[in-house]
Parts: sequence; structure tokens; C-alpha cells
Amino acid sequence: MEELVRLCKARGFVFPSAEIYGGFRSTYDYGPLGVLLARNVKEAWWRSMVQLRTEVVGLDASILSSPKIWEASGHLKNFTDPLVDCRTCKQRWRADQLPAADDGKLKCPNCGGADFTDARPFNLMFKTFVGPVEDEWAVAYLRPETAQGHFVNFANVLQTEHLRPPFGTAQVGKSFRNEITPGNFVFRTREFEQMELEYYVPPDDAQRWFEYWCNERFEWYVRLGIPREMLRLRHHSKEELSHYSAGTADVEFAFPWGWGELEGIANRTDFDLKAHSAASGQVLEYFDSSTGERYVPYVIEPAAGVARTMMAFLIAAYSIDEVAGEERTLLRLHPRIAPYQVAVLPLSKKDTLLPLSQEVLQLLQPVAMCDYDITRAIGRRYRRQDEIGTPLCVTVDFESLEDKAVTIRDRDSTTQERVPIDRLVETVNSRLAW
Ligand code: GAP
Repeated sequence: MEELVRLCKARGFVFPSAEIYGGFRSTYDYGPLGVLLARNVKEAWWRSMVQLRTEVVGLDASILSSPKIWEASGHLKNFTDPLVDCRTCKQRWRADQLPAADDGKLKCPNCGGADFTDARPFNLMFKTFVGPVEDEWAVAYLRPETAQGHFVNFANVLQTEHLRPPFGTAQVGKSFRNEITPGNFVFRTREFEQMELEYYVPPDDAQRWFEYWCNERFEWYVRLGIPREMLRLRHHSKEELSHYSAGTADVEFAFPWGWGELEGIANRTDFDLKAHSAASGQVLEYFDSSTGERYVPYVIEPAAGVARTMMAFLIAAYSIDEVAGEERTLLRLHPRIAPYQVAVLPLSKKDTLLPLSQEVLQLLQPVAMCDYDITRAIGRRYRRQDEIGTPLCVTVDFESLEDKAVTIRDRDSTTQERVPIDRLVETVNSRLAW
């Protein structure tokens, strides 16, 4: 894990936020490679949830939202964690996450003390004021999940898209939670991105769709390169269920510190639509004019986090092997996830090679995200591309000027193939097997 955090910083995936001021409370910024990786995670999710389906449409709701939403959804009352203070060192902790000592008593992870205040509920929503006056009428919340933006737009979407259950809305965006104990790098932060699908189904079909989405979402991680044995599906016990859920399962990943949740799949029943309907006085139901059928759909919700997914891909892809007697670090990332799919590398930075290298780059840029590197010796440039997970390197050498061909080097096997430039795009596409 330490090595991965080092690599993330050194290669420009993730930087501590406001580092020049000493950092800021478990916030992080995404650097040039982190932005590409995060975009690819989100695009791969969007592709499977929206692009390759006909019954799912997109949505982008606001982050600042009316307190009425959170009152109706139950978040104002229920979205709390139990908070305790250590009386010895004054640190605050989530009571349900404190480790127990050998004698079974809870132990402070900071000072080892066992004297805590009673647990009290702490609401995780960030509160702010809209407009210039800071009074109770101006209170607003930053959304702690994107889900409620789906539910309050249920009638709008139904009206404009003429969908019938099963159908879904998909949304990717930031959510905010005032976590008591953020940590494990970007695993738990106060500002994070979610990818959520709200899938509306006839109530009688809810269990079947819940199982469908558990399986579908598990397989999505596998298809994108995470080994099956690093994943598991864990069903929640009754005590663990959120206030809105009739059943939840988490897709968990084997993080270096143990199993951790990547995504939750929940059967939210008709809880949210009924709650918003009651609070707003609006009808939030499906009506079939041809049969006269009318009902409030159940909601199956697969909800994933971008940063956790990125981390899981990085951890699963991280490997060390030996090439020509030398150790090398590489990220065996799936081409859809890797920040760059191709690196174009002129063998030398002599002027004679650069015009053809630029031509090659321009051929490839419309089909793949390309890096272009003319610094250092070619071997060191290959190592850098291996370390950031670039599946293919395309090398332009002096022979290329004569034979109009380039060399494609494969990240995982390091094998090389000579390819005519006029067949390069086609070859790269087939080698990436998008
Ligand atoms: N709408 C349902 C919902 O928000 P959740 O299990 O609380 O469910 C869904 O969140 C996903 O969002 C989690 O599986 C996780 O990947 C991500 N997530 C939640 N809280 C997070 C945090 N504090 N930091 C990073 N990711 C978080």
C-alpha cells in the first residue's frame, strides 16, 4: 500500500490537497494521470450502464439541494454515525469502528486509552447557507448521495422519455459526507464521486432484479481485469441495513488492510418515491394508459465510488517482474482503464525523426489517449510507460524513414512487432481489443 501511495504521488495520479500548506484534512487532488484514470473508470461505468443499454438514461442533478429533500428521505434524522470522544487524548472516533483490546474493551487507536464518552449521533451532511443571510431559511445541504436527485426527477424523466419499468437513471457526480474518521488514502474521504444507477422495477420483480444487478456489477469489475479471487459479494445482515433498504449486498475488494466495500447494491423498495410523494404532494408513480395499471415502482440501486474503484484497479494491476535480468514495476491495467493506451516514442530526439513521429501521433490521437515522450533513453521510457500502465508503445526509429513502418511493444510480454504505418490504427485497435 505504501508503495502504491508513493507511486500515485511520484507519477502524478494523486496528490495530497493543499500540500504546500501542509495538506488539508484527508482531501486529495488528482494529477494528470489520476484525471485520466478517473475519467476512464467513469466512462467504463457509463458505457456499461447507459451506452450499451436501451432502458437507462442519464441525469445530472444539483449538488446543493433543498433541506426538504433530506427531511423526506430520512437523511436529516437517520444519516448519522455514533460519535465518541477519548477522554484521555480528546480524539474523536466512530464508536462502531473502534478496535477492541484483549480484555474486550474498546481501545483508542491514538493513545491506547479505554475511557470514552457515551456515543451520540453525528449527522454526516455538510450544512451551508444559500444567499447572503445566514438564517434557518437559508440552510441547504451538500448532497451526501446522488440518489435523491434521481428520485425528485422521477416524474420529469418519465414524462420526457416515455419509459416503462424496468428502466433506470444513471448519474455520476460528487457527494459530500462529514466523515468522522476519513482514511486509508482515498478510500474514505469527505468529498468523493459516486456512480449511481436507480433502476425502477415492478414490485413483484424486485428480488429478481436485485440478484441480476448483484451479478452484473460483480462481473463488471472482473471484465475490467480484477481477478475474481480479489472480489466478493457480501450480503448485509438485518441490523446493518440502511433505513430505506429491504436487502443490500456489497461488492468488496481485498484491500491491503482487509476486505472493503467498492459498491453497494440495494433494494430500496418504494421507500424514496413514497416519501417524496408524501412530502411534496406530487404523484410519483408509474401509470400505463393502455392497461390502466398504476403502481409505485421499487428501486434497485447499484451505487459505486470512483476513488475506491480506481484504487482497486491500481492495486489489482500492480506487479513486479523481471525483464532481461532487471526488476521492473508495471501496472497491468485494462486498456479501457489505463490512463494512456498508447505512447509514441521517437527513438531519438534528432530533428530527422520528429516530423514522422508527429505524423504517427496524429494518426493515433483520434482513436486512443496517447502520451508522447522524447526524453531519456528508450529503455527508461519503456519502464516509465510500464509503471503507469500504458498497454502499447509505438517506437519510431531511423528505419521508419525508409520502410514507413514502426515497432509496437507490448507492456505485459514486452514483445515487439513491426507494423506498416498505413496499418497502424487498425493494428492498435485490434491489439487493444477495446
Ligand atoms: N445511494 C446509496 C449510497 O450512497 P453508500 O454505500 O453509502 O450508498 C455508495 O455509497 C458508494 O459510494 C460506496 O460503495 C463507496 O464506493 C462510495 N463512498 C461512500 N462514502 C464514501 C467516502 N466517504 N469516501 C469515498 N467513497 C465513498
